[in-house]
Amino acid sequence: MRPTQQDRIPAVDLQTDRAHPARVYDYMLGGKTNFAVDREAGDRIIAEWPNSRAAACAARAVMHRMTRRLAEVHGIRQFLDVGTGIPTAPNLHEIAQRVAPAARVVYVDNDPIVLAHARALLTSTPEGRTAYIDCDLRDPEKLLVEPALLDTLDLSQPVALTLINIVHFLSDEAVLPLVAHLLDVLPAGSFLALTAGTADSAPEQAEIASRRYREAGIENHLRPRAGIERFFAGLELDDPGVVLINRWHPELDDGPVLADHEVMAYAGLARKP
Ligand SMILES: C[S@@+](CC[C@H](N)C(=O)[O-])C[C@H]1O[C@@H](n2cnc3c(N)ncnc32)[C@H](O)[C@@H]1O
Repeated sequence: MRPTQQDRIPAVDLQTDRAHPARVYDYMLGGKTNFAVDREAGDRIIAEWPNSRAAACAARAVMHRMTRRLAEVHGIRQFLDVGTGIPTAPNLHEIAQRVAPAARVVYVDNDPIVLAHARALLTSTPEGRTAYIDCDLRDPEKLLVEPALLDTLDLSQPVALTLINIVHFLSDEAVLPLVAHLLDVLPAGSFLALTAGTADSAPEQAEIASRRYREAGIENHLRPRAGIERFFAGLELDDPGVVLINRWHPELDDGPVLADHEVMAYAGLARKP
């Protein structure tokens, strides 16, 4: 029998001696896939910003809303999600496939623990398809020739590139050209969905959280709104533009709506003309 992608997931080194963004975020979301070093980093943030767990949940919830809008309003059926994170139901494919059971999703992350849990991302509807690729956003050439990507997505048809809570782990110099390059490869009608950290709305708390990440050895870059708008250069921004995540189509779910000072990220969705 032909091995499935699930059979091929290798044993991985989880590097439990240092904090990892995926595991700290999992801890903030109330997940169980994290280690003492991740919880220590998270607890230092929570001690100084008690609302940070609600902010993390809001950061995850906007991914649900963006996926719904992409599938329901823009008719997107293919998703390339880079910086997927540890599986947390509902995952992106579950949201997309509720709207369109034939939706196809390729997940990408560079953290070994996400790879170790990737089986939970490979639970597609029979009509749709999901794949997981262990790859770094900083290596787009490797990503773009991955058989799992090319077998799952038709790159002649529109794709939503979703970069949810990932670009703040990279500097502008590193990440802006990578995003532009990935968008270049995708056809007209494709979308960029992006959320990223800012200190605009809760300056003190955001700076504390960012510092705590850096102290734990995790690169972190907060951007003002104009810095986040740069990712959308040359694209047609969807309504309501680049806004704080609590203001991005809150009507699309029934979760708590936080005030501006309770969130620390912007969201934007845009179409490639
Ligand atoms: C805060 S989590 C966000 C997870 C998910 N997108 C969400 O919003 O719920 C950030 C994820 O990006 C991944 N990541 C960070 N830098 C990366 C890179 N250079 N290449 C691929 N993944 C990366 C981390 O491993 C982590 O899983």
